[in-house]
Amino acid sequence: MSAEKVTVSIIKADVGSVVGHARPHPSMLDAARNVLKDAQKAGTIEDFYVTRVGDDINLYMTHYKGENNSDVHGAAWECFQEATKIAKKMKLYAAGQDILTDAFSGNVKGAGPGSAEMTFEERGSEPLLFFMADKTEPSAYSLPLTRIFMDPFTTTGLVIDKRAKQGFDFEIQDVMANKKVVMSAPEESWSILSLLGDTSRYAIKRVISRSGIGPAAVVSTDKLNMTAGRYVGKDDPVCICRCQSGLPSVGEYTQPFINTTMLVAGWMRGSHIGAFYPCSPEDSDPTYYDGPPRICCLGFQLNNGKLQGLEPYGAKNGEHIPVDFFGTSTFDEARRNAIRASKFMRSQGPFVPSILGAEEMEYTSRPDVLKELTDRFISLDEAEKPKKKTASKKKKTEVE
Ligand code: F6R
Ligand code: MG
Ligand code: MG
Repeated sequence: MSAEKVTVSIIKADVGSVVGHARPHPSMLDAARNVLKDAQKAGTIEDFYVTRVGDDINLYMTHYKGENNSDVHGAAWECFQEATKIAKKMKLYAAGQDILTDAFSGNVKGAGPGSAEMTFEERGSEPLLFFMADKTEPSAYSLPLTRIFMDPFTTTGLVIDKRAKQGFDFEIQDVMANKKVVMSAPEESWSILSLLGDTSRYAIKRVISRSGIGPAAVVSTDKLNMTAGRYVGKDDPVCICRCQSGLPSVGEYTQPFINTTMLVAGWMRGSHIGAFYPCSPEDSDPTYYDGPPRICCLGFQLNNGKLQGLEPYGAKNGEHIPVDFFGTSTFDEARRNAIRASKFMRSQGPFVPSILGAEEMEYTSRPDVLKELTDRFISLDEAEKPKKKTASKKKKTEVE
C-alpha cells in the first residue's frame, strides 16, 4: 500500500495595505494566524506558516486533504475575511481588494485569491522552496523555470543526475483561452519555448518529474483581472518547488535569479516592464515606483506533513523560521542589477517597451482613458479632401 499523500498549498490574496499598495498591517497577519491555529487544532491542516510579499498575504498550509479541498480553502477564505475586517476598520488602502464574491462556494478558485497546491508521497527527506512574487503575473516564472528544468548550462543536474536526465513534463496553460497542454523536455524544448516566450498568453502551471518522483513545481496561474473583468492589480503569483535527489537542487533553483536580470510585466499599475528584485519578505515593500516586482524564496524541510525550519523541533501555532534565500548578501549584486535595469526601463516613460503593449494594456485602467478619446478622431480621408475655394479668397486673387 502506498503511503498517504501530503498536500502542500499556498493560498494568497491582497486584502488591503499600509501605505497604498505597500504591505499588509501586522494585525492582519495575526488575524490570519489565529484562524489557521484553529484550523490546525480542528485537524483541517497539519501545519502552516503565514507570511507576505509586498501587499500580499501568503498562507502556507500542509494537510492530507488533497487539492481544492473545501475545508482547507474555507480556512484560507476565513483568514482573508478576518484580515479584510481589520483593513476596513483601519481604513487601509484597497481593503478587501482580491475578494471578488460575497459568498464562499467551497473553493477560492475564481473568487479572487490565488492558489498553488501539490500532492505527493513525502520522501525520506523533502526540501521545499516557496517562491512568492509581488507586482507581476504568473508567466514571470516561465523564464526561471525553463532555465532550471530545461537548460543544462544552468542546471548541471540535467546532465549528471541520472533521474533528472530523464527530463520533465510541463503543463502549460493558455491563460486567455483557459486551455492547457502537456509537453515533454528535453524532446520538445524548443516547442515549449515557442509557446512560453509569449508571456501574455502562456504560463507554466506544473512541472512533473519523468523519473517517478512526482510533481516538482507548481505555480498559481489565477488571472485576477480576467476573473474580475476589470483591473484589480496583478496576480502576484507563488510557486512551490520540491528539491534535490533527482529534482533540481536548492542551488539550481536559486541560481537563475543571480545570473539573469529578468524583465517581467506588472510593476506600477500592472502596466510596466520592470526587473525582478530578489529579496527577503522584510525587504519586499514596493518602494520604487510601486516596485520593482519583488521575488522572495523561503525554504522549509517537510517532516511527516509538518514544516521544519530553523525553529526548535515541534513548534506550534505556525511559529516557524524559514531559511530566507534571497535575504542574503549574495543577492546584493542581483538587486543592484534589478534597480539599474528598472531605472533604464523607467527612462522611457509612458512609451513601450517601458509600458506593456496595447493588447496587455487592455487589462489595465488605460481603456477607460481611450474611450473618452474615441469620438474626437476624424477620418484622415475626410480631413485630407481638398477644400473648395471660398468666394472671398477668389476676390482677393482677382485684385492681385
Ligand atoms: C500594481 C499596484 C499599484 C497600483 C497603483 C495605482 O499591482 O497595485 O501599482 O496599480 O498604485 O493604484 P490605484 O489605482 O489604486 O490608485
Ligand atoms: Mg495591492
Ligand atoms: Mg500585490
